[in-house]
Amino acid sequence: MKKFWHFILSAGLLLMLVFALAGCETNQNDTKKEDNEKAAPKTEAKATYVGDDACKSCHGNVITEFQATKHSEALKPISDYELTGELPTVTLFDGADPDNTKPTELNLSKAKLYGVMVNEYLLAEVPDFKAKIYRVAKLVKNGDKYDLQAAKSVDVDKDGKEDWQAADGTSCAKCHAPGVLTESPTQGVSCESCHGPGSNHVDAAPEKKKGSIKASAESDLPDTETCLGCHRSDPEKDDKGTLIANNHYGTRNWFASKHAQSEKLAGCMSCHTSHKANANGQLLQKDSAEDVCATCHEGTDFDLEKLMWKNPTDPHGHITADHSFGAMKYEDMGDDPATKEIEIKNPAYVDLVEKAFPDLAK
Ligand code: HEC
Ligand code: HEC
Ligand code: HEC
Ligand code: HEC
Ligand code: HEC
Ligand code: HEC
Repeated sequence: MKKFWHFILSAGLLLMLVFALAGCETNQNDTKKEDNEKAAPKTEAKATYVGDDACKSCHGNVITEFQATKHSEALKPISDYELTGELPTVTLFDGADPDNTKPTELNLSKAKLYGVMVNEYLLAEVPDFKAKIYRVAKLVKNGDKYDLQAAKSVDVDKDGKEDWQAADGTSCAKCHAPGVLTESPTQGVSCESCHGPGSNHVDAAPEKKKGSIKASAESDLPDTETCLGCHRSDPEKDDKGTLIANNHYGTRNWFASKHAQSEKLAGCMSCHTSHKANANGQLLQKDSAEDVCATCHEGTDFDLEKLMWKNPTDPHGHITADHSFGAMKYEDMGDDPATKEIEIKNPAYVDLVEKAFPDLAK
């Protein structure tokens, strides 16, 4: 019995103690919170993508400049193209899910269309398919107009007839339609594709605008790394293990150039501009490539066709200028022109590549 009262008493004391302490805790917390608020403002919300229209009121001049560049045309609405017929209903198979041989009907005039990338592929959402973004059709020039054809045709259901396969477009979107992935109101390449999400910058007080939009953790303004996020064209290995020059992204073999290595150069921006097109619509600092070179190499007469060689046998029609500036010459590659990719067979070049990319030596 004594034990019982003892228990009740200690339990009661304990409870009182707990309440007292808890009270104390909250009080202490409140003062801590106030201190914190005084010391550091509450951390800024994570910036989100607001689209190019949100920049217009203050940077209208940059918007106008930008609209004259190829970047602003990375993804164009289907209404920019005159088609030979109406937008059809097509029967599609899921290219992102090869095990799925069930067809689906998609009425392109009612579907969610993102736009046309590289003037060729119509990007759209296909409800119930595995991926978000598909190349559902290909535009093929027919006189002044365009025919719609399959982006990819494969006999998926093995009935001896070619089917329209909706080809995966999610991987392409990263560079050709980045706004679709970031759920930005501007779905192609936009201000925020290089500058990063702009909501905090738009909301910031005038005196706090500077530094409130960041291209990356390392840099407020976009730099060479930003460009290489979409334009890195380093060599790779094909299925047979052969080293091939990568032709897709526009800066083939840039890694090997003296320009990439020199401390004296500001990377891409030594020759290119960020928003302002030259008289020929190119993102170059002068109206001709020769004049760009002359700003630093006065009196040197470069043979630019040879130095910035284009891939003569590109399987995909990417005609991209070599950016090794003579460090990897086409005639020295050891390429077999009969095959479509450019093979790098010259031992000196293989060595150069493997030193820069040890993973490719394996
Ligand atoms: C309400 C006006 C306003 C809007 C809207 C606005 N900006 Fe700005 N922005 C400014 C001002 C003012 C500055 C100049 C800050 C300075 O130099 O002190 C600036 C500077 C910048 C800079 C340079 C930043 C730096 O740190 O040097 C970039 C890049 C930029 N804006 C991009 C954008 C983009 C992209 C958008 C749309 C998403 C946008 N701005 C919307 C007013 C605006
Ligand atoms: C292809 C990448 C790219 C895109 C797209 C881009 N910018 Fe820039 N922007 C840059 C770079 C790089 C700089 C740094 C200055 C330079 O080197 O030209 C810059 C600088 C700026 C600046 C501050 C310096 C200045 O020149 O006044 C503003 C403001 C700006 N950009 C706004 C915009 C707006 C608005 C858009 C959309 C219409 C946009 N940018 C689209 C790359 C880009
Ligand atoms: C979000 C991806 C992306 C980023 C970032 C990007 N580009 Fe591009 N760029 C593209 C795409 C896509 C094209 C092809 C556009 C087309 O024809 O559809 C292109 C085309 C170009 C072209 C050829 C067209 C022309 O006008 O001459 C140049 C040059 C270029 N980019 C330079 C740059 C530079 C310099 C930067 C960095 C300041 C940069 N790009 C950043 C995606 C990007
Ligand atoms: C890492 C970024 C990136 C990815 C991913 C990417 N591309 Fe590209 N693509 C580019 C750039 C940058 C250019 C422009 C190169 C130039 O102007 O030299 C380009 C150019 C092209 C061109 C040539 C356009 C022309 O006018 O000559 C086609 C076609 C193309 N891409 C299709 C695709 C397809 C299809 C996919 C997806 C399977 C894809 N790309 C994925 C960056 C990318
Ligand atoms: C030393 C000057 C120089 C530097 C540095 C340079 N470029 Fe270029 N780039 C050029 C010239 C000149 C052309 C135009 C070639 C032509 O006339 O077709 C070009 C063309 C391009 C093209 C279009 C290729 C095509 O399809 O015709 C892209 C994309 C490009 N550059 C991106 C970049 C990027 C990204 C960087 C930085 C990694 C860079 N460049 C660095 C001079 C330069
Ligand atoms: C902003 C200045 C600048 C511009 C613009 C420029 N270059 Fe250069 N270039 C350099 C520098 C600096 C070097 C030397 C790098 C080193 O050796 O460290 C160099 C080196 C070279 C080399 C290598 C020379 C050698 O000895 O191996 C070639 C080739 C070259 N540039 C061609 C061009 C061409 C072609 C253009 C125009 C499309 C051009 N450059 C534009 C600054 C520039």
